Amino acid sequence: MSLVRKRTRRSRENESFYVFNSERGRCNCFEYKGISASQVATISEAFTEGFLSGFDRIIELGYHKCGFSLFLADSATCEVFSYDILSPNPEAKADNLNLIQKDLYAQNTINEIILLIKGDGRTLLLCDGGDKCHEFGLFSPHLKPDDVIMLHDYADNLKDYSLLQEKQKWFFGHESSRHAITKYIIKNNLRGFQYQLFKEYFWGSFKKE
Ligand SMILES: C[S@@+](CC[C@H](N)C(=O)[O-])C[C@H]1O[C@@H](n2cnc3c(N)ncnc32)[C@H](O)[C@@H]1O
Repeated sequence: MSLVRKRTRRSRENESFYVFNSERGRCNCFEYKGISASQVATISEAFTEGFLSGFDRIIELGYHKCGFSLFLADSATCEVFSYDILSPNPEAKADNLNLIQKDLYAQNTINEIILLIKGDGRTLLLCDGGDKCHEFGLFSPHLKPDDVIMLHDYADNLKDYSLLQEKQKWFFGHESSRHAITKYIIKNNLRGFQYQLFKEYFWGSFKKE
């Protein structure tokens, strides 16, 4: 049986953005409760409470400053498990947020994440660690039907990506692409899930059939 918590929802007043001067231009980045996230300023348009409430657990690979992790935890009704090699931000606190400091690519961490994915209910797995395509390849074979896997800094194609960069004021280069993960999509029977929507926010989104 899956554990589903009902929580008080976040308020939009907690959301803001900061400007990061990248080499290629000024990026508008998301900030939540004053904690920065490596996401576009408009990310909450895609990761809505309604969308997140459809999952029984959320696993984020790579928490960095923990702003997005805290946003996910406050917006969702389930547990959020987030991994990073860095020390977690002590300011990022929610009773359903589990910040786990481990090397993502160590075998015991991989096993731990696979066990989480295999738990009862629906999993949302967000690949946003050091090597998103590798993470997608590592974990996509273990998804259950209806689970969703996403990878960040995603380019469906380069022309589209540069148009979106202008639109979203996000001038970081892509770190994952459709081309790089096509073999995993085919092998693991994945299909685009709200693909056009999430692509606008630099996430590649796929569901296990
Ligand atoms: C792009 S950041 C994550 C951004 C975060 N998801 C957000 O939205 O704000 C990537 C993170 O992956 C982490 N990372 C890189 N290699 C790792 C490893 N081997 N194990 C765990 N975390 C790793 C980095 O420390 C970094 O914080």
